[in-house]
Amino acid sequence: MKSSSALISLTIVDKNHCAIDTDYPLEKGQNLLKNLLINGIKTHSKCGGKAICSHCKIQVISGHQYCNNPVAEEKIHLTKQQLDQGWRLACQVFCLKNISIYLPSHDEI
Ligand code: FES
Repeated sequence: MKSSSALISLTIVDKNHCAIDTDYPLEKGQNLLKNLLINGIKTHSKCGGKAICSHCKIQVISGHQYCNNPVAEEKIHLTKQQLDQGWRLACQVFCLKNISIYLPSHDEI
């Protein structure tokens, strides 16, 4: 469900980085996983956002510069190549401006 109260917005893209859904509102102080859940976007999570399960992997396609840097736990679950390609744990991502992300299927995680 989309809301008009957001300060920034999220775009979801497909594997080819084409937008498939846009203008999801994001709360700046909330991590990306919680924002996805608030918006009713299906995500994978087994640890409840504690950076343990690594099931919440997403790829930030644009707007990396508006997100916090990867935390130590992400460097455990993601390779340097994945980090360089924008892969993150959604539960550890905080954004300050609009971003677009790719949401992998469960089989891709
Ligand atoms: S929800 Fe488990 S690592 Fe993010």
